[in-house]
Formats: sequence, structure tokens, C-alpha cells
Amino acid sequence: MKVAQPIEWTSKGVVMLDQRRLPGEVIHHTYTDYREVAAAIKDMVIRGAPAIGVAAAMGVALGIERSSARTLDELRAEFPGICKIIAETRPTAVDLFWAIERMTRRFALLVAANSPLDELRRAMVEEARAVHAEKRATDEAIGRFGADLMPVAGQVMTQCNAGALATAGIGTALGVIRVAVEQGHKLRVLVPETRPYLQGARLTAWELHEGGVPLTLITDNMVGHFMKTGNVGAVVVGADRIAANGDTANKIGTYQIAVLAHEHGVPFYVAAPVSTFDLTLASGEEIPIEERAADEVTHLRGVRIAPDVTVANPAFDVTPARLISAIICERGVARLPYAESLRRLADMSAAAAPG
Ligand code: MRU
Repeated sequence: MKVAQPIEWTSKGVVMLDQRRLPGEVIHHTYTDYREVAAAIKDMVIRGAPAIGVAAAMGVALGIERSSARTLDELRAEFPGICKIIAETRPTAVDLFWAIERMTRRFALLVAANSPLDELRRAMVEEARAVHAEKRATDEAIGRFGADLMPVAGQVMTQCNAGALATAGIGTALGVIRVAVEQGHKLRVLVPETRPYLQGARLTAWELHEGGVPLTLITDNMVGHFMKTGNVGAVVVGADRIAANGDTANKIGTYQIAVLAHEHGVPFYVAAPVSTFDLTLASGEEIPIEERAADEVTHLRGVRIAPDVTVANPAFDVTPARLISAIICERGVARLPYAESLRRLADMSAAAAPG
């Protein structure tokens, strides 16, 4: 099955597929400055929590690789500024901060070892590439665990885009669907368009269509109708941040789908890597929610569709843990009570994980 490549490290720089232009145009940009990578994350050239993490790791590596510093001390002085600019792009997806922390730990070890500058630069690039490679492996493991939870046949619903475009692997929620389909499940995907940024209509519909997975595109206000009448066998979504009690931040609109799934007895699954767990937060109330520009709501592709009035545009909402049937990660499947099951999976070493 065809898999989109949202980001690649190349000898020319960090190459990104511009997701703002899909599905109409397939355009790539090559970034040679970490500030450009930060701007690309902020402006949604790349989006989706795990892919944002990969971009952040590559941004840090690019900052180090292209730095004009001539000594370790100069580079050490520059490093926090590079991380700060990348950290100030999007607040909700915790993979961004996870990736920066990981790159910071690697940098600190190299500095402590008094590594020669060229070796340090090479090692930081290798670390960013390892983050990318690991995302591919974690998605595949998530797909295998999650496929067992999918119905053998029928319709499943998702929200936003948690596919290859959002993870730089095969996708989390869409990875689960993809693996299930490859294993022979006869699935059709109900894809809500996901206003205001239309990740469902523009990206998920494109990815599934390109991958040959049957889908039906619906508007967001059709979700209740299809839950009631449309034989939805399961919902599977991605996540931007999962608190210690299992409360999950994901694209705005996810919460109402979870409430409707609960009302209609439809299992509601979250698929996300361990890097999306934020066990430092006791509950979802502590998750920072990004507020985006009003013109994403008042305009469609540059055309005004609403008067100039007060607008709210929270990019994410939080689904309470009690509405989530299971959280699927690369190390297994967590169920209520999540405070215990998520901790157990987080503490499990990757090597010890089954599958
Ligand atoms: O604003 P976006 O497009 O970055 O939001 C993306 C989502 O909410 C995804 O569902 C989430 O990041 C999971 S991606 C595997």
C-alpha cells in the first residue's frame, strides 16, 4: 500500500511535503535553516503530533549541523536558543517537547564526552534520523496491536488525519486501519471533514484514496446521524497528548465523537506512541490547548465565508478517559484504569515489549 512521506533528511537539508497544499498540489520545500523548520511546524506545512516530533528533532539537528560555531563552547551557547525557537511553535502536541528533550540529552552526552565538533554534528543528525526510523517501527507495532481490535467487516470512523502524513511512518489510527485491511478485514472508513483546517477532507481522504482503502467523506455535523444509523463498528483516532489518567487531547471534534460513540455503544480507541504520553500531567485539564487564528474559521482558502465577528478556534479538545475503550501504543493495549496501565507500558523497555 502506498505510504506518503511528509519529511525526509537529505544532504541538501530537511525536505517537507507541504500539507497545506494537498490534495490539489504535491509540493516539497527544502529547508536549510532550523528557523525555517520552526516556521514550517507553526504554519502547518507539517502537522500531526509524531511528525511534528520528527520535524523538531531534524530542526535541532539542522541547527547544529549548519551552525557557524567553531568551538564546543560556542555551540553549547547556541544550543538552548535553537531548542527555544523550535519549542515555541505548537503547544499541545507533546511529541515536539519529547523530541527536543531527546536531542538535548544526546547533545549533553556528546558535550560531556568532549566530542570533536564534526563528530558531534554527525551524531546529532544520526539521532534525528533515528527518531524518524523509530516512528516507522512504532507505527507498525501500533498497527499490529490495533488491527486485532478492528471489526472483521464494516465501517470504522476516524477524525482529523492520523495517517502517514501525521506521523512520518504508516500512521497511528490510519496505521491500525491499514494493517487491518492488509490482514483481510473488509473495512470502509467514515472520514469527518474536520473543520476548520479540513485535515479529514484534504489529507485523510487523500491518503486512504491513494492507498486504495474504501472511504466515505462526511461533514462534521453528520457524525451523530451516522453513529445512529450507519453501522459504525468502531472509532479509532490519534492523540496529541495523553495525560496520566488517560484523558486524551486530539483534534477539535474528537470529544463529541467519543460522546456519541458512548451513547451508541461503539468502541472508541486511541492509537498513539508512548512519546505522546505525558505522565507528568495528572489529568487532561492540565493540557495546554492551542488557539489558532480566526481566519481559519472565517475564511475558506482565502475566501471570506463569515462576517468579521468574534471567533473561537481551539485546535484540540480533551476526551475524558472514561469514554476511551482502549489506548493502543507500540508496546501493547492499555485499558481502564489508565493511571496503572499507561504507567506500566511507559516503564516497559522498548526491547521488552511484545510484538
Ligand atoms: O493540528 P494538527 O493537524 O497537527 O492536529 C493533528 C491531530 O490532532 C492528530 O489527530 C494527532 O496529532 C494525531 S497524529 C497521529
